Amino acid sequence: MATIEAHGGKLMNLINEAYDFSHINKEIELDDFALSDLELIANGAFSPLTGFMNQADYQSVVDQMRLADGTVWSIPITLPVTKEKSEQLVIGEQVKLTKDGSVYGVIEVAELFEPNKDHEAENVYRTGDKAHPGVAKLFSRPNVYVAGSITLVKRIERERFKEFYLDPTETRKTFEEKGWATVVGFQTRNPVHRAHEYIQKSALEIVDGLFLNPLVGETKSDDIPADVRMESYQVLLKNYYPKNRVFLGVFPAAMRYAGPREAVFHAIVRKNYGCTHFIVGRDHAGVGDYYGTYDAQLIFKNFQPEELEITPLFFEHSFYCKACGNMASTKTCPHGKEHHVILSGTKVREMLSNGQTPPPEFSRKEVVEVLIRGMSKVHA
Ligand code: ADX
Repeated sequence: MATIEAHGGKLMNLINEAYDFSHINKEIELDDFALSDLELIANGAFSPLTGFMNQADYQSVVDQMRLADGTVWSIPITLPVTKEKSEQLVIGEQVKLTKDGSVYGVIEVAELFEPNKDHEAENVYRTGDKAHPGVAKLFSRPNVYVAGSITLVKRIERERFKEFYLDPTETRKTFEEKGWATVVGFQTRNPVHRAHEYIQKSALEIVDGLFLNPLVGETKSDDIPADVRMESYQVLLKNYYPKNRVFLGVFPAAMRYAGPREAVFHAIVRKNYGCTHFIVGRDHAGVGDYYGTYDAQLIFKNFQPEELEITPLFFEHSFYCKACGNMASTKTCPHGKEHHVILSGTKVREMLSNGQTPPPEFSRKEVVEVLIRGMSKVHA
Protein backbone atom coordinates (compact mmCIF):
# COMPACT_ATOMS: atom_id res chain seq x y z
CA MET A 1 0.00 0.00 0.00
CA ALA A 2 1.45 3.33 -1.03
CA THR A 3 1.27 5.55 2.03
CA ILE A 4 2.44 9.14 1.78
CA GLU A 5 5.95 9.86 3.05
CA ALA A 6 6.48 12.03 6.12
CA HIS A 7 7.33 15.69 5.53
CA GLY A 8 11.02 15.90 4.69
CA GLY A 9 11.11 12.17 3.89
CA LYS A 10 11.49 10.57 7.32
CA LEU A 11 9.02 10.10 10.15
CA MET A 12 10.88 11.06 13.32
CA ASN A 13 10.78 8.99 16.49
CA LEU A 14 12.52 10.66 19.42
CA ILE A 15 10.86 8.70 22.19
CA ASN A 16 13.04 6.77 24.63
CA GLU A 17 11.37 5.94 27.92
CA ALA A 18 14.45 4.02 29.08
CA TYR A 19 16.60 7.15 28.79
CA ASP A 20 18.82 7.63 31.85
CA PHE A 21 18.68 11.30 32.83
CA SER A 22 19.93 10.79 36.40
CA HIS A 23 23.20 12.62 35.65
CA ILE A 24 21.38 15.79 34.49
CA ASN A 25 20.81 18.44 37.14
CA LYS A 26 19.42 21.48 35.41
CA GLU A 27 15.83 21.69 34.35
CA ILE A 28 13.41 23.84 32.41
CA GLU A 29 9.79 23.88 33.56
CA LEU A 30 7.50 23.64 30.53
CA ASP A 31 4.11 25.24 30.10
CA ASP A 32 1.28 23.17 28.56
CA PHE A 33 2.03 24.66 25.17
CA ALA A 34 5.69 23.57 25.19
CA LEU A 35 4.84 20.15 26.62
CA SER A 36 2.49 19.45 23.73
CA ASP A 37 5.11 20.67 21.23
CA LEU A 38 7.67 18.38 22.88
CA GLU A 39 5.40 15.36 22.47
CA LEU A 40 4.55 16.18 18.86
CA ILE A 41 8.19 16.68 17.88
CA ALA A 42 9.07 13.37 19.53
CA ASN A 43 6.27 11.27 18.04
CA GLY A 44 6.98 12.48 14.52
CA ALA A 45 3.88 14.66 14.06
CA PHE A 46 6.21 17.62 13.53
CA SER A 47 8.66 15.75 11.22
CA PRO A 48 11.24 16.75 10.04
CA LEU A 49 11.81 18.74 13.27
CA THR A 50 14.07 17.03 15.80
CA GLY A 51 13.88 19.71 18.46
CA PHE A 52 12.99 23.30 19.23
CA MET A 53 14.10 25.60 16.40
CA ASN A 54 17.47 27.30 16.20
CA GLN A 55 17.76 30.90 15.06
CA ALA A 56 18.42 30.11 11.41
CA ASP A 57 15.33 27.91 11.12
CA TYR A 58 13.23 30.29 13.21
CA GLN A 59 14.17 33.33 11.13
CA SER A 60 13.63 31.51 7.88
CA VAL A 61 10.22 30.20 9.03
CA VAL A 62 9.12 33.65 10.20
CA ASP A 63 10.31 35.39 7.01
CA GLN A 64 9.81 32.77 4.31
CA MET A 65 7.66 29.94 5.66
CA ARG A 66 10.55 27.55 5.15
CA LEU A 67 13.17 25.90 7.32
CA ALA A 68 16.72 27.03 6.60
CA ASP A 69 17.15 24.07 4.22
CA GLY A 70 14.14 25.19 2.16
CA THR A 71 11.58 22.66 3.47
CA VAL A 72 8.16 24.27 3.80
CA TRP A 73 7.26 25.07 7.43
CA SER A 74 4.99 27.92 8.46
CA ILE A 75 4.85 28.13 12.27
CA PRO A 76 7.82 28.66 14.64
CA ILE A 77 8.21 25.84 17.17
CA THR A 78 10.17 27.39 20.01
CA LEU A 79 10.97 26.89 23.67
CA PRO A 80 10.79 30.22 25.53
CA VAL A 81 12.51 30.68 28.90
CA THR A 82 13.10 33.74 31.07
CA LYS A 83 16.31 35.75 30.77
CA GLU A 84 17.31 34.59 34.29
CA LYS A 85 16.82 30.96 33.33
CA SER A 86 18.75 31.41 30.07
CA GLU A 87 21.73 32.79 32.01
CA GLN A 88 21.98 29.50 33.90
CA LEU A 89 22.11 27.44 30.70
CA VAL A 90 25.30 26.44 28.90
CA ILE A 91 25.54 25.60 25.20
CA GLY A 92 26.21 21.90 24.66
CA GLU A 93 24.80 20.67 27.95
CA GLN A 94 21.72 18.58 28.53
CA VAL A 95 18.77 19.92 30.47
CA LYS A 96 15.67 18.12 31.76
CA LEU A 97 12.28 19.29 30.53
CA THR A 98 9.80 19.06 33.37
CA LYS A 99 6.18 19.75 34.18
CA ASP A 100 4.58 19.57 37.63
CA GLY A 101 7.45 17.57 39.09
CA SER A 102 7.74 14.99 36.30
CA VAL A 103 10.57 14.78 33.78
CA TYR A 104 9.12 14.47 30.27
CA GLY A 105 12.10 15.21 28.12
CA VAL A 106 15.73 16.13 27.69
CA ILE A 107 17.06 18.90 25.46
CA GLU A 108 20.62 19.27 24.28
CA VAL A 109 21.07 23.03 24.36
CA ALA A 110 22.45 24.18 21.00
CA GLU A 111 21.60 27.88 20.99
CA LEU A 112 19.95 30.62 23.02
CA PHE A 113 18.54 33.62 21.22
CA GLU A 114 16.23 36.57 21.73
CA PRO A 115 13.48 36.80 19.14
CA ASN A 116 11.95 39.96 17.75
CA LYS A 117 8.40 39.17 18.82
CA ASP A 118 6.84 42.17 17.06
CA HIS A 119 8.26 40.84 13.80
CA GLU A 120 7.16 37.30 14.64
CA ALA A 121 3.62 38.51 15.37
CA GLU A 122 3.37 40.60 12.19
CA ASN A 123 4.62 37.80 9.97
CA VAL A 124 3.05 34.74 11.57
CA TYR A 125 -0.25 36.23 12.80
CA ARG A 126 -0.43 39.15 10.33
CA THR A 127 -1.10 41.49 13.26
CA GLY A 128 0.60 42.93 16.32
CA ASP A 129 -2.73 43.33 18.08
CA LYS A 130 -2.49 41.86 21.56
CA ALA A 131 -6.23 41.20 21.54
CA HIS A 132 -5.48 38.38 19.06
CA PRO A 133 -5.27 35.21 21.22
CA GLY A 134 -2.20 33.86 19.40
CA VAL A 135 -0.35 37.17 19.66
CA ALA A 136 -1.38 37.50 23.33
CA LYS A 137 0.05 34.03 23.96
CA LEU A 138 3.28 34.87 22.12
CA PHE A 139 3.88 37.94 24.26
CA SER A 140 2.81 36.26 27.51
CA ARG A 141 5.59 33.68 27.20
CA PRO A 142 9.19 34.49 28.23
CA ASN A 143 11.69 36.21 25.95
CA VAL A 144 14.62 33.89 25.26
CA TYR A 145 14.28 30.88 22.97
CA VAL A 146 16.23 27.71 23.76
CA ALA A 147 17.10 25.65 20.69
CA GLY A 148 18.23 22.05 20.57
CA SER A 149 17.29 18.49 19.79
CA ILE A 150 15.06 16.66 22.22
CA THR A 151 14.21 13.22 23.52
CA LEU A 152 10.86 12.39 25.06
CA VAL A 153 11.52 10.25 28.15
CA LYS A 154 7.98 9.97 29.51
CA ARG A 155 4.62 9.83 27.80
CA ILE A 156 1.93 12.24 28.95
CA GLU A 157 -0.77 10.31 30.81
CA ARG A 158 -4.32 10.91 29.75
CA GLU A 159 -7.26 10.24 32.01
CA ARG A 160 -10.03 10.41 29.42
CA PHE A 161 -10.37 9.36 25.79
CA LYS A 162 -7.01 7.55 25.97
CA GLU A 163 -7.80 5.36 22.98
CA PHE A 164 -8.04 8.42 20.73
CA TYR A 165 -4.43 9.52 21.32
CA LEU A 166 -2.43 7.93 18.55
CA ASP A 167 1.06 8.60 17.28
CA PRO A 168 1.61 9.04 13.53
CA THR A 169 3.05 5.51 13.30
CA GLU A 170 -0.22 4.20 14.73
CA THR A 171 -2.55 6.24 12.51
CA ARG A 172 -0.51 5.25 9.45
CA LYS A 173 -0.82 1.60 10.43
CA THR A 174 -4.57 2.01 11.01
CA PHE A 175 -5.12 3.57 7.57
CA GLU A 176 -3.14 0.76 6.00
CA GLU A 177 -5.11 -1.91 7.84
CA LYS A 178 -8.32 -0.30 6.65
CA GLY A 179 -6.99 -0.48 3.10
CA TRP A 180 -7.29 3.27 2.60
CA ALA A 181 -4.92 4.52 -0.13
CA THR A 182 -6.28 8.05 0.18
CA VAL A 183 -7.27 9.69 3.46
CA VAL A 184 -8.59 13.19 4.04
CA GLY A 185 -7.68 14.88 7.32
CA PHE A 186 -10.11 17.21 9.05
CA GLN A 187 -8.93 19.73 11.63
CA THR A 188 -11.43 21.22 14.05
CA ARG A 189 -11.56 22.98 17.38
CA ASN A 190 -15.35 22.99 17.37
CA PRO A 191 -18.21 20.54 17.57
CA VAL A 192 -19.01 19.11 14.13
CA HIS A 193 -22.04 20.98 12.83
CA ARG A 194 -23.92 20.35 9.60
CA ALA A 195 -21.57 22.56 7.54
CA HIS A 196 -18.53 20.61 8.76
CA GLU A 197 -20.32 17.33 8.07
CA TYR A 198 -21.21 18.51 4.58
CA ILE A 199 -17.63 19.35 3.59
CA GLN A 200 -16.28 16.18 5.22
CA LYS A 201 -18.75 14.01 3.33
CA SER A 202 -18.17 15.92 0.08
CA ALA A 203 -14.47 15.13 0.46
CA LEU A 204 -15.24 11.54 1.36
CA GLU A 205 -16.96 11.14 -2.00
CA ILE A 206 -13.53 11.31 -3.66
CA VAL A 207 -11.20 9.63 -1.15
CA ASP A 208 -11.20 6.30 0.72
CA GLY A 209 -11.31 7.47 4.32
CA LEU A 210 -11.85 10.45 6.62
CA PHE A 211 -9.53 11.10 9.55
CA LEU A 212 -11.53 13.25 11.95
CA ASN A 213 -8.70 14.85 13.89
CA PRO A 214 -9.96 17.41 16.41
CA LEU A 215 -7.39 19.58 18.10
CA VAL A 216 -7.55 18.98 21.86
CA GLY A 217 -4.53 20.91 23.14
CA GLU A 218 -4.68 24.38 24.64
CA THR A 219 -7.46 26.56 23.18
CA LYS A 220 -8.83 29.93 24.23
CA SER A 221 -11.14 29.79 27.22
CA ASP A 222 -14.38 30.45 25.35
CA ASP A 223 -13.91 27.56 22.90
CA ILE A 224 -16.00 24.48 23.77
CA PRO A 225 -13.94 22.16 26.04
CA ALA A 226 -12.32 19.17 24.34
CA ASP A 227 -14.02 16.50 26.45
CA VAL A 228 -17.48 17.84 25.62
CA ARG A 229 -16.51 17.93 21.96
CA MET A 230 -15.16 14.38 22.07
CA GLU A 231 -18.53 13.08 23.22
CA SER A 232 -20.25 15.04 20.50
CA TYR A 233 -18.00 13.58 17.80
CA GLN A 234 -18.68 10.05 18.96
CA VAL A 235 -22.43 10.43 18.98
CA LEU A 236 -22.33 12.02 15.52
CA LEU A 237 -20.17 9.28 14.02
CA LYS A 238 -22.33 6.58 15.56
CA ASN A 239 -25.51 7.95 14.02
CA TYR A 240 -24.51 9.53 10.72
CA TYR A 241 -21.20 8.18 9.37
CA PRO A 242 -20.31 4.81 7.84
CA LYS A 243 -18.11 3.08 10.41
CA ASN A 244 -15.62 1.68 7.91
CA ARG A 245 -14.94 5.07 6.28
CA VAL A 246 -14.14 7.27 9.27
CA PHE A 247 -11.50 7.21 11.94
CA LEU A 248 -11.48 9.50 14.99
CA GLY A 249 -8.19 10.41 16.64
CA VAL A 250 -7.16 13.57 18.46
CA PHE A 251 -4.49 16.14 17.65
CA PRO A 252 -2.99 17.10 21.03
CA ALA A 253 -1.52 20.40 19.83
CA ALA A 254 -2.06 23.91 21.10
CA MET A 255 -4.20 26.14 18.90
CA ARG A 256 -2.30 29.14 17.51
CA TYR A 257 -5.19 30.97 15.79
CA ALA A 258 -2.70 31.91 13.06
CA GLY A 259 -5.25 31.46 10.26
CA PRO A 260 -3.49 31.00 6.88
CA ARG A 261 -0.09 30.04 8.31
CA GLU A 262 -1.71 27.56 10.65
CA ALA A 263 -3.63 26.00 7.76
CA VAL A 264 -0.32 25.13 6.06
CA PHE A 265 1.05 23.82 9.35
CA HIS A 266 -2.10 21.76 9.97
CA ALA A 267 -1.81 20.23 6.50
CA ILE A 268 1.86 19.29 6.92
CA VAL A 269 1.22 17.69 10.30
CA ARG A 270 -1.74 15.68 8.95
CA LYS A 271 0.54 14.43 6.19
CA ASN A 272 2.81 13.13 8.94
CA TYR A 273 -0.19 11.31 10.41
CA GLY A 274 -0.61 9.65 7.01
CA CYS A 275 -3.25 11.80 5.30
CA THR A 276 -3.04 12.35 1.54
CA HIS A 277 -5.64 15.15 1.50
CA PHE A 278 -6.57 17.92 3.91
CA ILE A 279 -9.70 20.05 4.18
CA VAL A 280 -9.36 23.83 4.28
CA GLY A 281 -12.71 25.57 4.45
CA ARG A 282 -13.82 29.03 5.39
CA ASP A 283 -11.46 31.05 7.65
CA HIS A 284 -9.46 27.99 8.71
CA ALA A 285 -7.87 28.47 12.17
CA GLY A 286 -9.03 32.06 12.13
CA VAL A 287 -10.34 34.19 14.94
CA GLY A 288 -12.32 37.42 14.92
CA ASP A 289 -11.87 39.43 11.72
CA TYR A 290 -8.11 39.13 11.43
CA TYR A 291 -8.13 37.08 8.22
CA GLY A 292 -10.08 37.16 4.97
CA THR A 293 -12.57 34.31 4.52
CA TYR A 294 -10.36 32.48 2.01
CA ASP A 295 -6.86 33.68 3.01
CA ALA A 296 -6.10 30.23 4.44
CA GLN A 297 -6.71 28.78 0.96
CA LEU A 298 -4.84 31.46 -0.98
CA ILE A 299 -1.65 30.95 1.05
CA PHE A 300 -1.20 27.52 -0.58
CA LYS A 301 -0.38 29.30 -3.85
CA ASN A 302 3.05 30.01 -2.36
CA PHE A 303 4.03 26.36 -2.66
CA GLN A 304 4.46 23.85 -5.44
CA PRO A 305 2.29 20.72 -5.01
CA GLU A 306 5.40 18.53 -4.75
CA GLU A 307 6.73 20.64 -1.87
CA LEU A 308 3.69 19.79 0.23
CA GLU A 309 2.67 16.44 -1.29
CA ILE A 310 -0.52 16.47 0.76
CA THR A 311 -3.36 17.84 -1.40
CA PRO A 312 -5.41 20.61 0.15
CA LEU A 313 -9.13 20.40 -0.61
CA PHE A 314 -10.71 23.84 -0.54
CA PHE A 315 -14.34 24.40 0.39
CA GLU A 316 -16.46 27.51 0.15
CA HIS A 317 -18.61 28.75 2.99
CA SER A 318 -21.30 26.05 3.51
CA PHE A 319 -24.74 26.24 5.12
CA TYR A 320 -28.23 24.81 4.95
CA CYS A 321 -30.35 26.58 2.32
CA LYS A 322 -34.09 26.46 2.93
CA ALA A 323 -34.86 27.21 -0.71
CA CYS A 324 -32.57 24.41 -1.96
CA GLY A 325 -33.83 22.16 0.84
CA ASN A 326 -30.23 21.04 1.16
CA MET A 327 -26.79 21.72 2.47
CA ALA A 328 -25.07 23.96 -0.05
CA SER A 329 -22.32 26.52 -0.42
CA THR A 330 -21.70 29.88 -2.03
CA LYS A 331 -20.45 27.84 -4.97
CA THR A 332 -23.59 25.76 -5.44
CA CYS A 333 -26.55 27.79 -4.15
CA PRO A 334 -28.27 30.50 -6.22
CA HIS A 335 -30.48 31.82 -3.38
CA GLY A 336 -30.13 34.88 -1.21
CA LYS A 337 -28.82 35.00 2.36
CA GLU A 338 -32.36 35.16 3.77
CA HIS A 339 -32.74 31.47 2.87
CA HIS A 340 -29.51 30.39 4.58
CA VAL A 341 -29.23 29.05 8.13
CA ILE A 342 -26.00 30.62 9.39
CA LEU A 343 -25.06 31.08 13.05
CA SER A 344 -21.79 32.43 14.38
CA GLY A 345 -19.74 30.34 16.81
CA THR A 346 -20.33 32.95 19.51
CA LYS A 347 -24.08 32.84 18.96
CA VAL A 348 -24.11 29.02 19.12
CA ARG A 349 -22.09 28.94 22.35
CA GLU A 350 -24.45 31.52 23.82
CA MET A 351 -27.50 29.44 22.85
CA LEU A 352 -26.00 26.23 24.24
CA SER A 353 -25.03 27.86 27.54
CA ASN A 354 -28.63 29.08 27.90
CA GLY A 355 -29.93 25.59 27.17
CA GLN A 356 -31.35 26.75 23.83
CA THR A 357 -31.33 24.38 20.89
CA PRO A 358 -29.77 25.54 17.61
CA PRO A 359 -32.00 24.49 14.67
CA PRO A 360 -31.57 20.97 13.21
CA GLU A 361 -30.48 22.55 9.92
CA PHE A 362 -27.47 23.89 11.79
CA SER A 363 -26.61 20.98 14.07
CA ARG A 364 -27.74 17.37 14.53
CA LYS A 365 -30.03 16.90 17.53
CA GLU A 366 -27.82 14.20 19.11
CA VAL A 367 -24.87 16.60 18.98
CA VAL A 368 -26.88 19.44 20.47
CA GLU A 369 -28.03 17.22 23.35
CA VAL A 370 -24.44 16.35 24.23
CA LEU A 371 -23.35 19.97 23.97
CA ILE A 372 -26.16 21.35 26.15
CA ARG A 373 -25.48 18.71 28.79
CA GLY A 374 -21.71 19.39 28.59
CA MET A 375 -22.01 23.15 28.68
CA SER A 376 -24.35 23.04 31.68
CA LYS A 377 -21.66 21.11 33.58
CA VAL A 378 -19.03 23.66 32.53
CA HIS A 379 -21.17 26.51 33.83
CA ALA A 380 -22.33 24.68 36.97
S1 ADX B 1 -10.51 25.64 13.08
O1 ADX B 1 -10.03 26.79 13.81
O2 ADX B 1 -10.17 24.39 13.68
O3 ADX B 1 -10.16 25.73 11.64
P1 ADX B 1 -13.36 25.04 12.83
O4 ADX B 1 -13.44 23.93 13.79
O5 ADX B 1 -14.46 26.03 12.86
O6 ADX B 1 -12.07 25.90 13.14
O7 ADX B 1 -13.22 24.56 11.34
C1 ADX B 1 -12.80 23.30 10.94
C2 ADX B 1 -12.66 23.28 9.43
O8 ADX B 1 -13.94 23.48 8.82
C3 ADX B 1 -11.76 24.37 8.83
O9 ADX B 1 -11.13 23.88 7.68
C4 ADX B 1 -12.76 25.45 8.46
O10 ADX B 1 -12.25 26.26 7.44
C5 ADX B 1 -13.94 24.64 8.00
N1 ADX B 1 -15.26 25.29 8.18
C6 ADX B 1 -15.86 25.62 9.35
N2 ADX B 1 -17.10 26.10 9.15
C7 ADX B 1 -17.30 26.11 7.80
C8 ADX B 1 -18.39 26.49 6.93
N3 ADX B 1 -19.54 26.95 7.42
N4 ADX B 1 -18.19 26.35 5.62
C9 ADX B 1 -17.04 25.86 5.08
N5 ADX B 1 -16.00 25.48 5.85
C10 ADX B 1 -16.11 25.59 7.18
